[in-house]
Amino acid sequence: MGCIQLKSEVYFVGVLNPFMRIFDVIMRTEYGTSYNAHLITGEKNVLIDTVHENYFDEYIENIRSVIDLEKIDFVVMNHCEPDHSGSLSKLLKLVPQIQVLASTAGKIYLRHITNDPNLNVQAVKDGEVLQLGAETSLQFFNAPFLHWPDSMFTWFPQEKILFTCDFFGAHFCEPRLLDSHTIHLELYEQEFKKYFDAIFSPFIPYVQKGLETIKQIDPDIVCTSHGIILTKGIYLQKAILQYEQWSSKIPQPRIKIPLFLCTAYGNTRILAESIAKGIQSVLKEADISVYDINQSDIYELRENMNNSDAFLIGSPTINKDAVLPVWEMICAVDAIHSKGKPVGVFGSFGWSGEAVPAIIGRMLKAAVFEEGYTCRFVPSQEELHEAFEYGVRFASMISTKS
Ligand code: FEO
Repeated sequence: MGCIQLKSEVYFVGVLNPFMRIFDVIMRTEYGTSYNAHLITGEKNVLIDTVHENYFDEYIENIRSVIDLEKIDFVVMNHCEPDHSGSLSKLLKLVPQIQVLASTAGKIYLRHITNDPNLNVQAVKDGEVLQLGAETSLQFFNAPFLHWPDSMFTWFPQEKILFTCDFFGAHFCEPRLLDSHTIHLELYEQEFKKYFDAIFSPFIPYVQKGLETIKQIDPDIVCTSHGIILTKGIYLQKAILQYEQWSSKIPQPRIKIPLFLCTAYGNTRILAESIAKGIQSVLKEADISVYDINQSDIYELRENMNNSDAFLIGSPTINKDAVLPVWEMICAVDAIHSKGKPVGVFGSFGWSGEAVPAIIGRMLKAAVFEEGYTCRFVPSQEELHEAFEYGVRFASMISTKS
């Protein structure tokens, strides 16, 4: 879409990717994305981030429409994931004298990402100021685990612009770029939440620290690396408020234990209902809900799962394994905050019943309860009673812990 001038000396030189439908293997991106990168011109010329390597040519064209490449002095890498660092090697091949700036972790990562152990990267410290001219400077703030250990923010005080890379990002392709010009703001908001859930929800304490940094800096503009640019008076305050709400530990009024299942002929669903009744018979006030994975929104289910006090997952066995939608669900288990979380596993099977042990084997650090519960084909009355009792024991374990 070409370069866009944001301020007299600040340009958007990023690239749109309207066709991306999956990011980081599991994240669906209905509205594409953008790889936002920026150029600050002046006595020193600075690039903030690069773009995915497949979009290098357009990125370079955008830069060249403003200045000659040879005039670039620095490239700041706020974060080294390849959607932002992918073009760095190619850029340095064209202009080897550019000084790369990154966090200490970023310096290590970049050398591995470019496979150049001698890559000339200068590590910047938290709070460090880089003077660009008599009246212009940049300041760097560590933002670890937002969402990699290397992440940092770059502050351009002269224009009150903060470059936050993924923080406040969203996979959304908006050629008008600014929040004030965004036509489908309601769709953007949906993607903004999805991005938070997928990228930042495992790092809640760090999100809160990041928000503190941003509130202290009090920028007028936040340039993220995906989606739209956020401005004071339009969407920036709302973005801050939403991140505050989503990162607050809201005390659950009731213990929440969802059961997720897939079923071929209804047998695993019958088991789920019996187990749910068993749990409810002990935890009478608890919120116990049964979800058919194929009938529900996967993102809502994943949020439910990761916000639960405990959860159970059920799968039939097909071709010696659990079924794909169940694996897709399990892939979204927040491995950081699910440590020790009680998890039950169940399922009906016909021949050999590998699904339940396979799921248990994948449950990483969660506290899987007993050996799960299985039955063969259609649950008998006796088996439904056993499933109920499994639910009772599961609930009793939770009520003992809480
Ligand atoms: Fe947009 Fe973490 O990369």
